[in-house]
Amino acid sequence: MSEAKQSQAEKIMIFDSTLRDGEQTPGARLNRDEKLEVARQLARLGVDVIEAGFPVSSPGELKAVRDIARQIKGPVICALARAVPGDIDAAWEAIREAERPRLHVFLGASDIHMQYKLKKDPRQLLEQAVEAVKYARRYTADVEYSPEDATRAREEYLYELLEAVIKAGATVINIPDTVGYALPQEFGALIRRLKEKVPGLDRTILSVHCHDDLGLAVANSLAAIENGARQVECNINGIGERAGNAALEEIAVALRIRQNSLPYYTDLNFSEIYRTSRLVSKLTGIPIPVNKAVIGINAFAHSSGIHQDGVLKNKETYEIIDASLIGGKAAQMFLTARSGRHAVQHQLKQLGFALEGDQLEIIYNRFLELADKKKEVYPEDLEALVLEHLSAAEPTYRLEYLQTVSGTKSIPAAMIRLKKDDDTILEEAATGSGPIDASYNAINKISGMNIVLDSYRLNALTHGRDALGEVNVKMSYNGKTVTGRGTSTDIIEASVKAYLNGLNKMLKLNGNENGN
Ligand code: KIV
Ligand code: ZN
Repeated sequence: MSEAKQSQAEKIMIFDSTLRDGEQTPGARLNRDEKLEVARQLARLGVDVIEAGFPVSSPGELKAVRDIARQIKGPVICALARAVPGDIDAAWEAIREAERPRLHVFLGASDIHMQYKLKKDPRQLLEQAVEAVKYARRYTADVEYSPEDATRAREEYLYELLEAVIKAGATVINIPDTVGYALPQEFGALIRRLKEKVPGLDRTILSVHCHDDLGLAVANSLAAIENGARQVECNINGIGERAGNAALEEIAVALRIRQNSLPYYTDLNFSEIYRTSRLVSKLTGIPIPVNKAVIGINAFAHSSGIHQDGVLKNKETYEIIDASLIGGKAAQMFLTARSGRHAVQHQLKQLGFALEGDQLEIIYNRFLELADKKKEVYPEDLEALVLEHLSAAEPTYRLEYLQTVSGTKSIPAAMIRLKKDDDTILEEAATGSGPIDASYNAINKISGMNIVLDSYRLNALTHGRDALGEVNVKMSYNGKTVTGRGTSTDIIEASVKAYLNGLNKMLKLNGNENGN
């Protein structure tokens, strides 16, 4: 873009909802420490707003949002609430200590939501929306309002509703395509008409929130920007309800790469994108598809001979994005058992973890244990140690002892000893179709919970025979799904750690009412 054009470019605010809508992905639940770590990284990435959660949903969620509000400086910290006083009170309780708090209030606006879900008539609901905004304004001057399912709402009703909530004090108006129904041209035109027809809308920040049911969330967000939206709500790696939300990294990179057609900018630190994407994937247990735009590992790989030849002659023949733009080229420095605390701390910092004091000491000791088993400790290994430490916060069960038997002529069996947080020791043996199945059966016996393993994934974090194995599991019980992660140079131990990590999360989710 020419300098003259650049000076006319307008800022697009990035509202990240990874910790709220993204965390609604089945199994993607994060504990308090994990949420805080993601929020820290989002602040480093430079997002304008972090939607930290939905505080009324559980006391744990409220505390996690409060930790973020207290500790994360820079971005606006937002909490979601339905348009009822109890939700708004809880949301405010969670964010009131933030440097810049925002309350986000929503209520269904389409006939289908009003008639079947809310079972109230449009007049009553308009009144409820106005009252909720006024109620939220008593707490803060930054109030966002979302008419849920706006793209399937009657447009005349939307005009009236938005005018009323703006009069009541809403300062940000967000238009959600809740079920990912819109088409880009249609959505862009809706945004333009709203701007023309809703009095007072020009005094608010106009925002959009797109879901990806038809694979159009990013296209719809860009169409909305071109028609006047100045805030986009999006999630790292596009995670979220059902098919997910608009992917933050895709919107940001599209705006950057296509500046010639899209005269807008964001305040993001692009070099933090890759790191943020990996962190979210690791902590939520949701893998990044290899062909995912911008962040998939194949996004910068060229396989056909013609493409490789072209790229060797000039990268631009087949590459429009340089991996270094998103911080994709990590330094391949490795550590050994002789590396000191300082070197480990430096490497951790490069990975985005600012650890000090006790936390650093714990990770350093784990690093030494690992360095004894494998000669070279790569950044990926160190990252795995920190993530395991974060995920293992406040565990109910810890692994004390594990022994398995397997072979071509023996029945696979496992003996497991676990320690509970009250120091009780529990031990069980079981057989199974293999040593991992036997171990999981033994853990199920100890916990007294018949957990079902939905999926199991093992991959080597680095290369070589002594590489750390990382296991990701998805497991369900009582209609709830969680993910678990574990790492070790021994893949059976990594599998057991992953299962225990999931079990501990499951117990927290069920309020510890299960389990021996
Ligand atoms: O998809 C949606 O409508 C939402 C709202 C709460 C903004 O997530
Ligand atoms: Zn949503």
